[in-house]
Amino acid sequence: MYRVLMVLKGVDGFISGEKIGEVLGISRAGVWKGIKKLRQEGYEIEAITNKGYRLISHDTVYNKEEILVGLETQNMGRELYFFKETDSTNNQLKDLGQKGAKEGTLAIAETMTHGRGRSSKHWTAPAQTGIWMSLLLRPEILPHKASVLTLLAGLAVSRAIEEETGVVCEIKWPNDILINGKKIVGILMEMDCEMQQTHFIVLGIGINVNTKEFPEELQDIATSLYQVVGHTFSRKKILQKVLLTFEKLYTIFLKEDQGFMPFLEQYENKCVTLHREIRVLGQGKVSFLAQGIGITPEGELKVKRMDTGKEEVVFSGEVSIGREMGEL
Ligand code: BTN
Repeated sequence: MYRVLMVLKGVDGFISGEKIGEVLGISRAGVWKGIKKLRQEGYEIEAITNKGYRLISHDTVYNKEEILVGLETQNMGRELYFFKETDSTNNQLKDLGQKGAKEGTLAIAETMTHGRGRSSKHWTAPAQTGIWMSLLLRPEILPHKASVLTLLAGLAVSRAIEEETGVVCEIKWPNDILINGKKIVGILMEMDCEMQQTHFIVLGIGINVNTKEFPEELQDIATSLYQVVGHTFSRKKILQKVLLTFEKLYTIFLKEDQGFMPFLEQYENKCVTLHREIRVLGQGKVSFLAQGIGITPEGELKVKRMDTGKEEVVFSGEVSIGREMGEL
């Protein structure tokens, strides 16, 4: 089927089934079988009697071959595992990491049956709608210094979405990406490490791209690019941009060895957790009200408590803003 595709891509306009058969040394029935399979994959192919076939578009096609064709990265995503269906791309990539997969290895799924979110929550990942991806990193840094990579991923994904679609995103510390106050991207970073050594990191990213409708329980908190703009987007192009943007920021991160410092200003400008009243869910589920005042070079959130007026640093845990604040 991909040989038929190569021929279609190589001509400007129509080409007859007979000619394709001639070029590839296969029968017309073989050509027709290839065309049928390509259409099932999502390739739009026009067929006109006496003229033949013409490839109209392959922007909407989302498979390994198409993703690799337009990928401009050096490393990220060059080793690519594409699953039509899997339990969780993070699980798959962890297995691959343990077997020695190299930095930049990417696992993508069309759909996940057991997509995982933070705090052991389920992540809904239906087919044809979103980008469900996990990226393997092997930075030579101590485990406690690695958590900033989740903020770096948030920054890279939000920039990539903005550049590719023109839609402005906000970041809710540490790494939820929101549009109009609703979540469009979730990031789950997992580590395989010892006290003093990071073996590898799995960066799981879920982007709601063409979701038309969410299950009732998510309708108030989740959104998609489709819902915001009113038309569908090429998942392939957004994914390629995410990989390229992340690679650029990650290279700076490794080279400059200054933690999150080089990205602080950009991140703070996009961060909706700052300069407003927030609720911080601390240890033991005790929550307190605070004002978000900044991000540290280690990627933590600086807050000023409303009750004591004192400044504190929040390392992890949940922070709620706006409409979510009543939920705690
Ligand atoms: C969150 O709770 O906000 C994090 C959601 C992370 C979802 C992504 S989708 C790809 C990757 N594989 C998973 O199983 N989860 C992450």
